[in-house]
Amino acid sequence: MTNEQLRSLLASMSLSEKIEQLVQLNGSFFGDIDVYTGPAAQIRMEPDQPLRTGSVLGEHGAEHLMALQDRMMAKQPHHIPALFMVDVIHGYRTAFPVPIAIGATFNPALAERLIEASAKEAAAAGVHVAFSPMVDLVRDSRWGRVMESTGEDPWLNARMAESEVRGFQGSNYADKGRLAACVKHFAAYGAVQSGRDYNVTEISEHTLFEDYLPSYRAAVEAGVSMVMTAFNTIDRKPCTTNKKLLRDVLRGDMGFKGVVISDYAAVMETVLHSTSLDTRDAAKKALLAGCDIDMMSECYLYHLKTLVEEGELPESIIDEAVLRVLELKNKLGLFENPYKDASVEDEKALLFCKEHQALSRLAAEESTVLLKNDGALPLDRRQKIVVAGALAEDRAITGSWALFVKPEETVTLRAAIETLYPDADVTFFGSDEVTDELLAAAKVADAVVLALGENQTQTGESLSKADISLPKAHMALFEAVRAQNPNVVTVLFGGRPLAVPELAGKTNALVEAWLPGSCGCYAVADILFGAVEPSGRMSMSMPYCSGQLPFSYSAYNTGRPKPRKEGFFPFVSNYLDVPNVPLYPFGYGLSYGEVTYSPVTLSSTSLTKGGQLTASVVVENKGSLPVKEAVQLYIRDLKGSVVRPLRELKGLEKITLQPGERREVRFTITEEMLRFYDADMNFVSEPGDFTLWVGHDSLTENGADFRLV
Ligand code: BGC
Repeated sequence: MTNEQLRSLLASMSLSEKIEQLVQLNGSFFGDIDVYTGPAAQIRMEPDQPLRTGSVLGEHGAEHLMALQDRMMAKQPHHIPALFMVDVIHGYRTAFPVPIAIGATFNPALAERLIEASAKEAAAAGVHVAFSPMVDLVRDSRWGRVMESTGEDPWLNARMAESEVRGFQGSNYADKGRLAACVKHFAAYGAVQSGRDYNVTEISEHTLFEDYLPSYRAAVEAGVSMVMTAFNTIDRKPCTTNKKLLRDVLRGDMGFKGVVISDYAAVMETVLHSTSLDTRDAAKKALLAGCDIDMMSECYLYHLKTLVEEGELPESIIDEAVLRVLELKNKLGLFENPYKDASVEDEKALLFCKEHQALSRLAAEESTVLLKNDGALPLDRRQKIVVAGALAEDRAITGSWALFVKPEETVTLRAAIETLYPDADVTFFGSDEVTDELLAAAKVADAVVLALGENQTQTGESLSKADISLPKAHMALFEAVRAQNPNVVTVLFGGRPLAVPELAGKTNALVEAWLPGSCGCYAVADILFGAVEPSGRMSMSMPYCSGQLPFSYSAYNTGRPKPRKEGFFPFVSNYLDVPNVPLYPFGYGLSYGEVTYSPVTLSSTSLTKGGQLTASVVVENKGSLPVKEAVQLYIRDLKGSVVRPLRELKGLEKITLQPGERREVRFTITEEMLRFYDADMNFVSEPGDFTLWVGHDSLTENGADFRLV
């Protein structure tokens, strides 16, 4: 349709019809029922109204969605097609590692490929919009949803955000196999206080703009079609009714032109936040603030009409929102083809196809992080090995937001070892119980592999924890086994960095496998047996304990910095009981072979506005396997009008080096990269001295100084 046609369609719609376009309900409303129960019962509506709404949440499957589209278009007075929106976060039927693990690949190009595959599957299943990417910055792993984010760093998250938007949308999301993307949760949902889900945030304007907003901004700049509001408050105001955030920052400052949708019932929840008087007031505030679609509440459906009729809302504001929804439908090509790519044939060909299974495995090769190795790894298949722990045989390791995974398709660690290493002498104990059989087997084994941590039911939405140490039963299992055999390799599963200092001190090798997806355990097995070099890097610092949280490597010096020595110092900024640094820092991860870096060479030690300088290093693989090395660039601004972080990631290149290969890696530094929000909240650079580092992780000391003149 042309813009003119869209506008005349809008002009011909009744007020009720327009309002229905601004409402999203889920599948429970589309059955053959007249009486709703449960949460649906709270939504007051006419019997046929769900079928006239503009979009649907969570329904899927080509055949089902084509039929639902027919039913909805038949009821909608202008036969306007509905939008089908689904959470496609880390895969559709093929699960890829959870986003925190995708962050750990340090490979945005790979993230784009994974999303592309997820989009193909979901598009074939009739989905039009993915509620993804989730780009909330996370620094507190008490929050269960850290598993949905690519991690703690604004720069890395921004690169992941733009890659993922491209992965969904391509250059035109009307194209076959593409979806419209919806970035979430705007804004700063990852800063919920104390890591407790849905809690308030208390962050400064500087922190909001400099740390939390860049990833959403990157998604907007990459052309994301939709934005979802966050459940939390910022500066005491719920995001969903926050006009400054949605109109001034998102639409004004960031230039976002697409559709804004609330999170699930978030418009209604502003009543409980106590900033809206009732659901009517909530509807008014949310629409005025710039939230176009109300997901799963009655606020818009029940109240907008009377609000307009009684003169409390101008109809023009409804028209504005509806036009954006119609534009999205038009850009997806739904007026010409309301089913878009829904195809039972394509579903058969694409869902969990061999190519996507291989990608799931590849992704886990790059996301699995080797945290410690005293020589226990790689395992030798001629050794006598024991593998124990319920997680080694648990299929709930795909992560909770690959909603359409078939559990029977998930490869467990045991299945992966049995398939890939059938000749290895491995005895399995798929339980956390300390049995006499296990202890006897451990005693005579050459090595014991323990699968510990959390499965997908222990990390995710509303699964916050005050204490993120290893589950007690797992520590007991570890201690019992280690008493029999000191050669213990621990594989940690889970969606958050757990606090495991004691375990890390005692285990001979520690592998962070995250929730690795459908076929990720093949990669974990290959890493354990040394067929693949681990190349994942921590996308979040792994703390010593919950009390260190929130934590980020890009911290500040304070007026009383701790000396770089072990121990406690009086009257400086440190703890009595744990170090200031984390157990394993951001960017950290080992490989089996040795990778060396030459000192940094700068093309110049001074940089002018409009100019550039290059920083280069030569990286060499001295090991015997090909290695993927995430070469990281960090910069520190030594003085500023406001405090500046001790270092910030500003560049990354993941390279593959064959054994013996050397490669020069160059980063270009420009003045734009040095900008930040100054004391008056202007986004500028300030002339002065800087240090940059290029190396293996955020602790690298491979540095050089330059001056911005
Ligand atoms: C989550 C969102 C999700 C939505 C729809 C909410 O509970 O916070 O991330 O997109 O549900 O499923």
